[in-house]
Amino acid sequence: MSALPSTHPSTRPSAHLSTRPASQTATTPCGGSSAPAVRTRALHAVPEARTLPTVVGAQLRVPTLHGDTAYANLDHAASTPALETVKAAVDRALETYSSVHRGAGYASRLTSAWYEQAREEVAAFVGARRDDTVVFTRTTTDSWSLLSKALPSRTTVFVFDIEHHSTLLPWGRFRTVRLPVPQTVEDAHALLEEALADHPSRHRLVVIAAASNVTGEVWPVERFAALAHEHGARIAVDAAQLSAHRTIDLAGWDADYVAFSGHKTYAPYGAGVLAGRSDWLDAGTPYLLGGGATRAVTEDGTTWATGPARHEGGSPNVIGAIALAAACATISRHRDSIEEHESRLLERLRAGLDEVPGVEVLSIFGDDSDRVGVVAFTIEGWDSSLVSQVLSVEHGIGVRDGRFCAHLLVDELLDDPWGERSATAVRASIGLGSTREGVERLVAAVASLVEEGTTATWTLTGSGWAVEGTDPRDVEVDRPW
Ligand code: ALA
Repeated sequence: MSALPSTHPSTRPSAHLSTRPASQTATTPCGGSSAPAVRTRALHAVPEARTLPTVVGAQLRVPTLHGDTAYANLDHAASTPALETVKAAVDRALETYSSVHRGAGYASRLTSAWYEQAREEVAAFVGARRDDTVVFTRTTTDSWSLLSKALPSRTTVFVFDIEHHSTLLPWGRFRTVRLPVPQTVEDAHALLEEALADHPSRHRLVVIAAASNVTGEVWPVERFAALAHEHGARIAVDAAQLSAHRTIDLAGWDADYVAFSGHKTYAPYGAGVLAGRSDWLDAGTPYLLGGGATRAVTEDGTTWATGPARHEGGSPNVIGAIALAAACATISRHRDSIEEHESRLLERLRAGLDEVPGVEVLSIFGDDSDRVGVVAFTIEGWDSSLVSQVLSVEHGIGVRDGRFCAHLLVDELLDDPWGERSATAVRASIGLGSTREGVERLVAAVASLVEEGTTATWTLTGSGWAVEGTDPRDVEVDRPW
């Protein structure tokens, strides 16, 4: 009898890698057939690659008022393009795609094995401890929503006003201590220390972002984890803006929970992760009630599973999980090259914007703070919404404008030039889909806007800024299916 095929070897050194204990894997929901895992090749260390991984669509050309041009993707903080390795893994997995933990067939076993391998890969990517639970969710927002439902009752939550709404808002049913936007890391430390001292409670959770989605500034997570633990609190780290750029290290940070999203980590939409301490997750309300989350259902009641299965009711997003695992493996393998590429582009972007009169870059902790490639800025006298439209329509550059789902922080950081809390910024964010040429184009476009104005005529209409004539983006395209 021939052996079942092995899955692709991991490309991640196995320092943190452990097979989840039996209770950590989802198994045989709804009394389905028991499916022993397909034998898979051992995960082993693969040397760091010095090249940059390629993203799908790197050659994208986009229409502008002045003809087609290469798309300058400076919008990675919102969503990253998929990696070529992710596409290849998804294509391969689709060939044998079947039910997960629900079938005795060969394809089902293979799909189930890949799903659990994806969990192992993600566990390694976040530096999880052996006994942490790794749950596949839909997004970071979903992960925090899940955790908020699993917290013990009467938990007190501590959160800074700098946070993205997904991290700021899900704690509504708990007593929440909101901390103001700090001026410095020391200030943040002191604010949190005082708050923890002033609000004793049996269960407490500190929530912080590892990197700000507005300014890119990186928080010293270990320091805040140590502070939380000194006071007997737990800490949850939002790594949505870190995952594509720097190492996540749950165990090394000594943090309790971490969440991130596939769509900001070079995998397509639809898969996110919550990883961390098992006890609250195993005791908390199951997140999605249904098949897969139960151990037994009788007329007298339901016994819920523990481990990730408890929160993964319904057939899970196996392709999303495989895509995310493939992205994690590739990022880990190319870590140094990615960081080098991004820091070079970030340096050039910041230096270039610095030379343009009237441009102000937003910052919480000041110019010298450590940051990933996210730069939000304003241009004196220019509406940010118009700037982002001009960058797209006249220059083929993709950025985001607004308040980035972090209204409290943006309101605090902006000068509020019109005396009302409605000011916005433009955000350029760097990743593997960004090039030096794209960054130069952005800097030149901003400089030209300040010096000479727009090249087209723009009018503010009821639905936003409109360019005179035909907007080059209003083209008819075939559906992609
Ligand atoms: N959270 C994403 C952003 O900051 C969507 O743009």
